[in-house]
Amino acid sequence: MLVALTQPVPRDPATDPRDIGRLRTTHVRAVAGCDLREEKIAAARAVCPDLFYTTRYEEMLARRDVDIVCIYTPDHLHGQHIVQAFEAGKHVICTKPLVNSLDDARRVLEAGRRTGRKLMVGQSTRFFESFRRQRRAFERGEIGALEFVDAHYIHRMDWYYDKSPWAATTTDWAFLCLSHPVDLVRWYLGHIVEVHALGYRSSLAQKYGAGFDIYAANLRSSDGRIGRAMGHYGLHDLPSARNAIELMLYGSQGTSMAQYHDMRYIHTSPDGDIIEDPLYGKRAYYFNNEVHGMHYGEFANYAEYFAEALLEDRPYSPDLEEGIETICVLEAIRRSAHSGQPVQLAPLLAEVGL
Ligand SMILES: NC(=O)c1ccc[n+]([C@@H]2O[C@H](COP(=O)([O-])OP(=O)(O)OC[C@H]3O[C@@H](n4cnc5c(N)ncnc54)[C@H](O)[C@@H]3O)[C@@H](O)[C@H]2O)c1
Repeated sequence: MLVALTQPVPRDPATDPRDIGRLRTTHVRAVAGCDLREEKIAAARAVCPDLFYTTRYEEMLARRDVDIVCIYTPDHLHGQHIVQAFEAGKHVICTKPLVNSLDDARRVLEAGRRTGRKLMVGQSTRFFESFRRQRRAFERGEIGALEFVDAHYIHRMDWYYDKSPWAATTTDWAFLCLSHPVDLVRWYLGHIVEVHALGYRSSLAQKYGAGFDIYAANLRSSDGRIGRAMGHYGLHDLPSARNAIELMLYGSQGTSMAQYHDMRYIHTSPDGDIIEDPLYGKRAYYFNNEVHGMHYGEFANYAEYFAEALLEDRPYSPDLEEGIETICVLEAIRRSAHSGQPVQLAPLLAEVGL
């Protein structure tokens, strides 16, 4: 699905309760939607009848009321859809992974520089309540100097292979899903200079004809600190023990963890461990009242954040260059897992033009 955004018209939430998206954002609103499949358009129209809908991307890009194009097409199509949007004069939000090859990374970076259009990667996890709380506390200095980062994203994906068969053959789990924990490690450690990764194919990956769906990667930052990212997409979930996404920060003065799907932010304090669990109060915002129902809140949060940055000409993260750097880290992990050798980032960054 591709969604187009523009600035909102004045609204009165009391008389416009139906438009949930508008209630979540004040600097941006949806104006158009595009998908090749008519049934998806019909489903979107049933919820948001006022949007313009088309099956032709060019038709959406030609509209003057479209300022930002949000891209949620299969991974291997992101590159061409981003370049088309830039060349039509639009800013872009692209879901993770930004692209899934170094060729597309180079094309997208070149097109961004040539057109001067802005792009933000929709790294949804950063915009989930517990991860926002963890970040704010880290920025307030509550865990001191950060010394080690440990992140994972694990989830059984048979439903995803069935829903989106392209996942097995046109991308790699390193891009499709390890992009979450690797982005989190990159967010905290800064530039990554070297990775050493191992990979394995679960029985589920073998059944669906996919490549490695289990990854364990160690990452070293430019100042020598270490991060670890793990992904497993053929497991049997054990949510009472491990959430799908968890981020542990180990600092000189404290430790913290953020979780998704639960909304817990757990951290040390002088009075002992503290568990903040805002799910009861925030679930309507993040999950449309379905307790574990996808990403409404995070997507609204990042759209709002990007729109504000554009309007005020402020920096934002992850921007195009940071996103391309993360793609190089993911490609390095993929190569390392296949070769069994550590991979340096510098040659990959040079190859894409960073
Ligand atoms: N947390 C997150 O941020 C998150 C979660 C899930 C998926 N994703 C990412 O979102 C993307 C889409 O995932 P999905 O699960 O929705 O996949 P999907 O297979 O359910 O949907 C992809 C849609 O793109 C449409 N499409 C393909 N080419 C098109 C074109 N030229 N014009 C218009 N529409 C086109 C298809 O018709 C399909 O409906 C993937 O890159 C995935 O990695 C991100």
